[in-house]
Formats: sequence, structure tokens, C-alpha cells
Amino acid sequence: MPRLLAANVLEDILYRKQTFERSFSLQLHQRLLNTRDKSFAFNLILTTLRRLGQIDELIGRCLNRPLPRKAAGARTILRLGVAQLFFLDVPPHAAVNTSVELANKRKQGPYNKLINAVLRRLNREGKTLVGEQDSAKLNTAEWLWESWAAAFGHQICRKIAEAHLCQAPLDLTVKNNATTWTQKLSGQLLNTGSIRLFKYGDVKTLFGYEEGAWWVQDTAAALPVKLLGDINGLRIADLCAAPGGKTAQLAAGGAEVIAIDRSADRLNTLKQNLTRLNLTVETVVADAILWRPKRLLDAVLIDAPCTATGTIRRHPDIQYLKNPDHVTSGLVVQKALLQAASEMVKPGGVVLYATCSLQPEEGPSIIKAFIGSEAAVSRYPISASELAGMEEFLTSDGDLRTLPCFLAEHGGMDGFYAARLVHD
Ligand SMILES: C[S@@+](CC[C@H](N)C(=O)[O-])C[C@H]1O[C@@H](n2cnc3c(N)ncnc32)[C@H](O)[C@@H]1O
Repeated sequence: MPRLLAANVLEDILYRKQTFERSFSLQLHQRLLNTRDKSFAFNLILTTLRRLGQIDELIGRCLNRPLPRKAAGARTILRLGVAQLFFLDVPPHAAVNTSVELANKRKQGPYNKLINAVLRRLNREGKTLVGEQDSAKLNTAEWLWESWAAAFGHQICRKIAEAHLCQAPLDLTVKNNATTWTQKLSGQLLNTGSIRLFKYGDVKTLFGYEEGAWWVQDTAAALPVKLLGDINGLRIADLCAAPGGKTAQLAAGGAEVIAIDRSADRLNTLKQNLTRLNLTVETVVADAILWRPKRLLDAVLIDAPCTATGTIRRHPDIQYLKNPDHVTSGLVVQKALLQAASEMVKPGGVVLYATCSLQPEEGPSIIKAFIGSEAAVSRYPISASELAGMEEFLTSDGDLRTLPCFLAEHGGMDGFYAARLVHD
């Protein structure tokens, strides 16, 4: 059952370009799985996506000619089978037998022999082959590898790709009393102020969830709002607010917040999240490019829609859903949001632009172009003291740039970029 669900979700992502989150929750609605099976299916899909380049290379070595298009279903079963053989804790006989059973269930019977033969051969010979593979390179889309090598250098590019092979820990942002909550949750308190958990089950069962003491937020995602300093009493608009991680930080910091998002559904999720946290903000469903405040604001946060390539270790499906065209098409919206934000703040007010993308076009390049245009803003450089002394997180221009290979000894972090601009 969990393998059948995994096969359906994998095909939704790879062939129908649906997100993992959406497909997995839809599939779970259709068939009830117990907690153990649900967790196995979750790991199986995400591991297969993380290792897909390696898996396909291994399968290719066992075939005399490529599988025909009509064998897409068999390919899915092989992929899941290889993931179980080499990258999950599944006994080889179980990986092979369940794959053959799955082929029967999914009407791939004609490929039964092939599936059996490929998996058995890989079980015999595959370990050495896996050891010889360049896992970082094979599991990274070529356009991303090229882009990161050009932006950060080959060595860092490889480290980013390696970071994507591991499952990310769970980070929490607390409203207050971080040390006490770290102890209560048996977590690790990072320098950046987030609490990190390496072992956890359903987050809703964790201590403090019901009372709204914390929310889930990668430690990198929690950094941009800190760059606004003391925000108590300031009027701030969060232009791309849902599901509300940064809105919660703004409200918890005492700001008077207007949370805007063009998606009513996503804004509803934000409202539910903030209700649990006992935080109050004004919410507006609107296109932030067109929306304007009644009076000028102290600060505006743009957590821009982007390709989200900085979150691949948490969302390995991103590699299979995004392509360079998404970078190009996003730039129009990002630029318009910057322009709109600069018209919303009072003189001396701050525009904070943030994105969870590793692509330079969506970060430093767009900021450079915007500052160089007619816009009445200039860069207000960030200093390491605002980032717990982490010089590594700063660019030479004074922007924030985190990479998935940073904090490696603590389990890594998402890739984030932020630039702080001030209205002239
Ligand atoms: C990166 S997510 C924001 C994450 C959020 N800030 C957080 O920390 O939880 C981007 C959001 O921007 C919204 N969005 C995209 N284009 C928009 C626009 N033109 N106006 C308002 N919201 C927009 C999307 O609906 C999405 O919820």
C-alpha cells in the first residue's frame, strides 16, 4: 500500500508537475495509511527524488536499450525499488518482491521479469557501482549546477549539491524563552536563535504546539525579519505573507502588521496559524503590486515568490518542477513588487527584499538593477553583528546570503537571500 501510494505521487510530480505536498495529501485522502506506512511512503518518495540521478544511471547500466515510453509505469517501480535497495533500510528480498507485487497491482505485469532481473542484478553488483558514482553531480539538474558553479564557484556548488542529499532537521522559531523551550523539546539552540530538532514525529504532538509557543521555520527563513531591528510599534506591511512564518515574527516583535497575499486559500492558512499563536494582524487578499496603504509605512517586507531553489533539501521535488523559464518569468513580478514596496514606505523607511532562491537573477541581480534604476531607494548594508556575528552569511555588498552547506556541522540550513533598502 505505501509503495503504491509512493508510485502514484512520484508520477504526479515527474509527469504531471504536481507538487509533492499537494499530491501526497490528495493520495492520503484516498487511502488511509497508518503512521508507520505513511512515514515509509514519505521517506521513499523524497529519497527517490533526492537520488533520482544516481538511480536512473544504475537502471540504465542494466538495460541493453532504453525503456520505451509506454513502460513509464515500470520505470517508476524500478526507481522506487532501487531507492529501497541502496538508500533506505529495506532488506533486499523485500525491495525486490514488493516491486514485483507492485508491478502486478499497477498492471505492469509484462515488465515483471525485467523488474525482477534488474533489481536482482543491482542487488548483486550495485553496491560497488553506487560507491563509484558522483552523487552530487548526478542528482543535480544541469542548469542548476551551472548556475551555482558560476555564482558561488565549483567547490561551493558541489557542497550545496551534497547538502541536498540529506534530510533537513526541523527548525522552530519561538515567541520567547528560547532556552527554556530548547530544554522542554530536547532540541539544540542555534546561534541564530532557532531551536533545532533532529528527531520528531507529527509536529502537532510536540510540546508547546497547542499553546502556540513556536512555529516551524527554517533558521535561514527566520533571519530576514531580524534585519528590521526593533520593530515594536512600527507599521509594517508583509506583501507576500502566507503561510505566515515571517508575519508571525513581525507580530511577535510588536509591529502593527498588514499581511497581504493574493491567494485567499493561503491567507486562510496564515489566519489559522496566527490564531494558534495568539498573534493579531490585519489580513488583506490583494495583488500587492496594485495594493497601496492608506498612509505611508515604516517598513515593507517582500518575501518574493520565486523558484525556491534554496529549499531543495526540504523539497526535492522543486528540481523536477522548475526550469530556467520559471526564473525568467518570476523576475517581472519580483521587480513590480520592489517598485510597489518602494512607493509604500515613508522617507527613511525600509524595504526588505527576501527570497528563498539560490539563483542570482532572483536575488543580487534584481536588487542591483533596481537600485541602479530610477527607484528612490539605496542599499542599507547589513552587518555581521545583526546576524549573530556570522560573517559567512554576508555578501561583499552587505546583503544576506545563506547556502544549504552553511552550518553543516549542525545539519545545514536553507538557501536564502535578503537585501535591505532604505527610502531616500
Ligand atoms: C515565498 S511565499 C511567502 C512565504 C511567507 N512569507 C512566509 O514566511 O511564510 C510567497 C507568497 O507570495 C504570494 N504572492 C505571489 N505573488 C503575489 C502578489 N503579486 N501579491 C501578493 N501575494 C503574492 C503567494 O501566494 C505566496 O503565498
